[in-house]
Amino acid sequence: MANQSPLDVYLGNDWTRHKADFWRAMADHVSQADAGQVVLVMVGLPARGKSLISGKVKRYLQWTSVKAEIFNVGKYRREGTPHPDAKFFDAGNPEGEKARRAAAEAAVADMLKWLKDPANKVAILDATNSTKSRRKWIYEKLEEARMAHCFVESKCDDEELIMANILDVKTTSPDYVGQNPEEAARDFRDRIKMYEKVYQTIDESEKHLTYVKVTNIGHQVVINRIQDYLQSRLVYFLTNLHIKPRSIWLSRHGESEYNLEGKIGGDANLSSRGFQYAKMLPELLRRSGLPKDAPLTVWTSTLKRTNQTAEGIVEEFGWEKLQWKALDELDSGTCDGMTYAEIADQYPEDFKARDDDKYNYRYRGGESYRDVVIRLEPIIMELERSENVLIITHQAIVRCIFAYFMQVDQAKSPWMEVPLHTLMKLTPRAYGVEVEKFKANISAVSTWRPKGSTAKHHEAGEADTVVGEVVANGHGNGKEEEQKNGTN
Ligand SMILES: *[C@@H]1O[C@H](CO)[C@@H](O)[C@H](O)[C@H]1NC(C)=O
Ligand SMILES: *[C@@H]1O[C@H](CO)[C@@H](O)[C@H](O)[C@H]1NC(C)=O
Ligand SMILES: *[C@@H]1O[C@H](CO)[C@@H](O)[C@H](O)[C@H]1NC(C)=O
Repeated sequence: MANQSPLDVYLGNDWTRHKADFWRAMADHVSQADAGQVVLVMVGLPARGKSLISGKVKRYLQWTSVKAEIFNVGKYRREGTPHPDAKFFDAGNPEGEKARRAAAEAAVADMLKWLKDPANKVAILDATNSTKSRRKWIYEKLEEARMAHCFVESKCDDEELIMANILDVKTTSPDYVGQNPEEAARDFRDRIKMYEKVYQTIDESEKHLTYVKVTNIGHQVVINRIQDYLQSRLVYFLTNLHIKPRSIWLSRHGESEYNLEGKIGGDANLSSRGFQYAKMLPELLRRSGLPKDAPLTVWTSTLKRTNQTAEGIVEEFGWEKLQWKALDELDSGTCDGMTYAEIADQYPEDFKARDDDKYNYRYRGGESYRDVVIRLEPIIMELERSENVLIITHQAIVRCIFAYFMQVDQAKSPWMEVPLHTLMKLTPRAYGVEVEKFKANISAVSTWRPKGSTAKHHEAGEADTVVGEVVANGHGNGKEEEQKNGTN
């Protein structure tokens, strides 16, 4: 095994036997390949989605355990000039120019300081001023610091998209706190005009730069001089992004026979209550608010319980259904088919090790959460490309996908409670992801095991919420989960 590449293992005849080794090899490969550091420099006029792209890149990298940070020049500038008007941004205003320059310098200095720690991998410089001379200045600074760079230019000529960005994002910007939204939008439009006067797109004369030009977020992508592995992964990610309105529905399979017996893993059928959930799912989806005439695709794992849960949906709506091996439940190796009490009894050290570090603990002959995230990466790429998708999968997989969208950290995500018979709807917004939960009034056992317990799967309290009630509503990007009941 030692001399085999991940691909050799992948292509081996006995996939099942080699599966765990493959992901292990991939995990090691990915962590080695990520050794370098890189600075992404955002380029583009205001309201072209630069902050949105920066946020998504950071979220994606952190989810794959690559340390990333955003250095927003606007934030530094705001410390000196909290509520500037459009005139401040006129290139001919020397006061404004001085303040903006100082902000850029402070942001770059902080960024380079952050990069002194080799554990920190990707710095994202989110700045607005986008002239050739400013790029040259940044390029020279980075060369001097021997730091790899990649300029990411976001261009946008779709007026509707720009207007949506202005209204959606900028009326909530800290620059405009407490101002009339219409006035704020007008001032912001004027500010953009100031930038347009001096804006220079990346062109032929800058061939020495590594860059990616993204037009209308994901519509067209031009790439120059991409060199290393991390850069190409980032470019692939940027190529897949889009900002069309859409939602992602996430659900575990209905209660299974194994759930009833408290066993993990396996490939059991649904219980009779699980089948009831499958039957009710079309109704639950409708109550969650289906997009009008927009196509929806159903993804399941290759295991019977998710397939059976999707049956009612496919029958009712006739949507396209895809089965993904990558959506199969976390492989519990030799513990497959056991109850937590049996594991604690037969493998006490393993049981404790898993409690101590659930994200990194790898079952004997099976997987860890970290391994699962690596195999889910293609799913995340495909999700970024896709529009409306309903994913019916398993507890650990729901946790990992949810953690990606909501930026839940690795110590917490494996402990998240993901009840059975509950549909989640995730809707990406300009700032963060909105979450709604819809609980079916069909009881099920709770499969949630708190740290340090071998709690048998127990009957969850009688479902007392009405079908389709929003039980929680929150936003990603680090914002607090707000509780909001009774809407919808
Ligand atoms: C952008 O940067 C250049 C060079 O530093 C400067 O001359 C120009 O005034 C700046 N423009 C804006 C709109 O900030
Ligand atoms: C699952 O259901 C099918 C069809 O009803 C049945 O043939 C099969 O034996 C069941 N499997 C188990 C493990 O109960
Ligand atoms: C999934 O369900 C369909 C019917 O909806 C069935 O034809 C197919 O055999 C099932 N596949 C698996 C792997 O259970």
